[in-house]
Amino acid sequence: MNSIVTQLGTADIQDLIDLEKMCFAYHWTYEQFTLGLERKAFKVLGIREKGRLAGYIAFSLIEDEMEILNLAVHVDFRRRGMAGLLMDSAFEMCINNGIAKSFLDVKESNMAALTLYRKYGYKQIGVRKKYYPDTKEDALLFRYDFKQGREYNILKGAK
Ligand SMILES: CC(C)(COP(=O)(O)OP(=O)(O)OC[C@H]1O[C@@H](n2cnc3c(N)ncnc32)[C@H](O)[C@@H]1OP(=O)(O)O)[C@@H](O)C(=O)NCCC(=O)NCCS
Repeated sequence: MNSIVTQLGTADIQDLIDLEKMCFAYHWTYEQFTLGLERKAFKVLGIREKGRLAGYIAFSLIEDEMEILNLAVHVDFRRRGMAGLLMDSAFEMCINNGIAKSFLDVKESNMAALTLYRKYGYKQIGVRKKYYPDTKEDALLFRYDFKQGREYNILKGAK
């Protein structure tokens, strides 16, 4: 795939909101995106295809921890490896910034995301009962340790 991952900023917020509306019952507001990006509370990486925002990943980097806050790919572009590409770029940034571990939560019914995160080496570490207000579903909590993980070793050149 020839898609290019770039860091997104305040000029991309409307496109991010449009994509979030398509993918999630709840989406961040314009103000939440603006404040977060301006205060550098999180980073957003995205892929554009012919000008359209095809996918993005939002994550925070605090001390030696990374948390995936959101990851979404437009329905027209799914199953083409875009989420994988976004994960690879975020992981590379983590490794370059000395991040040791990563956390995320995901709905227990979200098979696509669960399969993706497990493929990346995330291990389930807990459950938050009825965590999501829209469906009252449980959240599954996952953790990934960079220094033990496959991607860390590949990027560091170890086989
Ligand atoms: C989850 C999501 C981001 C995956 O995006 P994508 O670009 O289609 O994923 P990729 O093509 O990069 O797939 C990478 C791997 O993830 C897994 N995967 C992705 N979609 C899947 C699906 N529908 N069913 C099962 N596994 C899936 C597969 O292991 C896949 O590897 P493979 O294609 O070699 O089998 C996308 O389905 C999405 O935006 N969903 C709605 C938003 C969402 O739920 N985000 C996650 C919030 S925690």
